[in-house]
Amino acid sequence: MIEKNFSNAHPKVLCVIGYPIEHSMSPIMQNAAISELNLNYVYLAFNILPINLNLAVKGFKVFNITGINVAHPFKQKILKYLDDIDPIAQKIGAVNTIKNDDGYLTGKNTDAEGGIQALLDAGYTISGKNILLLGAGGAARALTYVLAKEAKKIIVVNRTKKKAINLANEIKIFFDIKIEGKEYHNSVLKDESEKADILINTTPIGMYPNISKSPIPIEFLHKDLLVYDIVYNPLETKLLKDATQKGCKSLGGLDMLVNQGALAFEWWTNKKPNSSVMKKKIIEFLGNK
Ligand code: ATR
Repeated sequence: MIEKNFSNAHPKVLCVIGYPIEHSMSPIMQNAAISELNLNYVYLAFNILPINLNLAVKGFKVFNITGINVAHPFKQKILKYLDDIDPIAQKIGAVNTIKNDDGYLTGKNTDAEGGIQALLDAGYTISGKNILLLGAGGAARALTYVLAKEAKKIIVVNRTKKKAINLANEIKIFFDIKIEGKEYHNSVLKDESEKADILINTTPIGMYPNISKSPIPIEFLHKDLLVYDIVYNPLETKLLKDATQKGCKSLGGLDMLVNQGALAFEWWTNKKPNSSVMKKKIIEFLGNK
């Protein structure tokens, strides 16, 4: 007689929430990791209207969703719905990963470690560097927190200037670093890029489908600048193309995406995923688009 394993018919559910979410590569890379380890999980993407975030959180509990990734625009808004927040995510003020233990929701931030690890793995250093960071949202908060431990100076520029100033002031509470928030204006970009060693884009400018856009005019890039764009779709953004044209070193957002996803996966499943497989699947998908 054939033994039927009924538990295999009922996989544990993981998901990502965001608005919009259709361009997220998380289902592709997370399901690839699940298949490779032959685990009984499935990873889905949910487009959640911002007014429905509270209902989505109830849904995590009602449907017993084991693990949740939180994408734009919920990384800061989600905090008030959580039962527990990892101390670093609390300081960052943004959560991108949640674990659900029988209705008890704990939040973490894997963007911070994932983003910085991508830079270090590519052979770059942060110690003593002047950094110009574009954007002041959830990803910017995570990166600024880890960069502030080692960088010499950070300038945060943001469309909403107040958010850049607030982020800089919050970081000063935790680290003894020169950090300033400024307006997202060409005159500021010109002055600050000249003085910077590393330029980091955390805004969605240049992301699919607006692939002809760049967050900074090409003439402000110089060959001594390392350009790090955390946008990963397309794999080579306009900013990265401009950087190459100006002789800059550059790094795209794919490794940060894979790193943060792999850290989340391991937290949820207690199994280390194969990051190379996750990365390969995304390259195959985006390359074939
Ligand atoms: P994430 O979680 O990916 O960081 P987020 O928290 O929504 O997403 O942050 C997006 C950042 O990109 C914000 O700093 C946003 O600026 P505002 O604070 O003014 O909203 C910035 N951003 C988004 N679209 C932009 C645009 N078209 N031009 C300039 N900045 C933009």
